[in-house]
Amino acid sequence: MSASLDTSHLWMPFTANRQFKEKPRLLTAASGMFYTSDDGRQILDGTAGLWCVNAGHAHPRITEAIQKQAAEMDYAPLFQMGHPKAFEAASALVNMAPTGLNRVFFCNDGSEGVDTALKMALGYHRARGDAGRTRLIGRERAYHGVGFGGIAVGGIAGNRKQFGATLAAVDHLRHPLDIKRNAFSRGLPEHGGELAEELEQRLLNLHDPSSVAAVIIEPLQGSAGVILPPKGYLERIRAICDKHGILLIFDEVITGLGRLGTAFGANYFGVLPDMIICAKALTNATVPMGAVIVKQSIHDAFMQAAPDNAIEFAHGYTYSGHPLAAAAALATLEVYREDGLFERANEMAPYFEQAAHRLHGLPHVKDIRNLGLVCGIELESMPDKPGSRAYNVFTKAFWDKGILIRVTADVIALSPPLIINQAEIDQLFDGIASILKTTA
Ligand SMILES: Cc1ncc(COP(=O)(O)O)c(C=O)c1O
Repeated sequence: MSASLDTSHLWMPFTANRQFKEKPRLLTAASGMFYTSDDGRQILDGTAGLWCVNAGHAHPRITEAIQKQAAEMDYAPLFQMGHPKAFEAASALVNMAPTGLNRVFFCNDGSEGVDTALKMALGYHRARGDAGRTRLIGRERAYHGVGFGGIAVGGIAGNRKQFGATLAAVDHLRHPLDIKRNAFSRGLPEHGGELAEELEQRLLNLHDPSSVAAVIIEPLQGSAGVILPPKGYLERIRAICDKHGILLIFDEVITGLGRLGTAFGANYFGVLPDMIICAKALTNATVPMGAVIVKQSIHDAFMQAAPDNAIEFAHGYTYSGHPLAAAAALATLEVYREDGLFERANEMAPYFEQAAHRLHGLPHVKDIRNLGLVCGIELESMPDKPGSRAYNVFTKAFWDKGILIRVTADVIALSPPLIINQAEIDQLFDGIASILKTTA
C-alpha cells in the first residue's frame, strides 16, 4: 500500500475496520475475470465483486454506454418528469422477466428494492380494501439488505441485534439448511421440502392468514452462506400463498440475471412470484440500480384506488431510473443477450460443480453445496472462534494465491462472473484446495 494513503477517515461497510487497516487489501483496476491489486498482482475474481459483475469487469460496450450518457445528459428527475432511457430500460427488463411480471419500479440497490417491495405489498392490500393485511413473513438467515424493512424480514442475527426493535408485525420461517441430511448435495437438496408446510401450519395458524400481506424469500439464500431450497419447497410456498391471498416476493438480488443459468431464479425453479427484486447484475454493478418487477394486477390496484390526477404510490428516490444507470442497464441486458451469458453459465455449471466437489474430503470441509455458478464450502468452525477458519482461507487466497473469495461465518461462498472458463475454475478451486490442505 502506498505510504501516502490515509485510511483513517473512511468508515468501511461490513468490515472489521481496525483489522483491515492494519494490512489493507486494495484493488486498483479490473478487467474481465481479474482485478489488479495495488501491488500489481492479478487477482482472479471468484465472487463477481459482490455477486454482481456477471458480464466480467469493464465490459467495453457497457463502459461506452455510460460514458456516452454522462456526456449527453448527466441527470434528469423521474418525479413528474421522464427521460426515454428509463422507460426503455423498464421494457428491456420486462422482456427478460418471467411472463406475467411486466411493471417495473426503479430504485438504487437491493436494500431499497426490498423496502419498495414491502411497501408495495402493504399498499396493494390497502388499495384493494384489505388493510388488515399488515404482517410480513421472512426467513431465518435470510439477507434482505440493510434498510429497516429488510433487517426486519431478514434473519441474520448479527445484522439486527445492534439496532433493537425493527418492524413489529413480522415473523420468520425456519431456514432449510440441513447438513445432517443433505451434506454434499449436488444441486437441489433432497430433504426439507416439508419445511414449507410450517408457513401454513405454524405461522398462518398463529397469526391468521387474513393478517398476512406477503412472504419474502430469496430463492437461493446467498449472503448467509449459500442455502439452497430443497426440492418442492418453493412450489409449496407458492401454493400456500395462493390459497390464502398472500403475495409472494422473490428477492433475486443475487439470483437475478444469470447466476443460475437463467434470467431469474423464478425461471430456474418454474415458480412465478408476484414480485421480483433485482439489483447488482442489472447494470453489471457499474452504476447502482435496483428494480422491483411486479404483476400488472399489483400496479393496476394502485392506479384504480387513487383519485384522478393523484400520485398513486407515495414512494421513490431522487435517483430512481438515473440516466447513467438506465444506460448501463440497457447495455448490460443487451450484452447478456447478445453474448449468450446465461446460456454460458448454464453450460459451465456442471464443470463448476465437479470442480467444487473435488474438495470433498479435504481437512475441515463439512459440506459443499452448489447450484448454477454458486457454490458454498462450509468448514468446521474452530472451537470458540467462529468465522476464523474461513477468514484465514480468505486472506491466504488473496495474498498467496491471487484469488478473491468471499466468506461468511465459516462458509466460503463463490459466485464468479459468468464468463469464467475451465482453466479459471480450476485455478479457483485448486487455490482453495491447496490452502485447505495447509490450514489448521
Ligand atoms: C438477497 C439480497 N437482498 C438484498 C441485498 C441488498 O442489496 P444492496 O447491498 O445492494 O442494498 C443483497 C445484497 O447482497 C442480497 O443478497
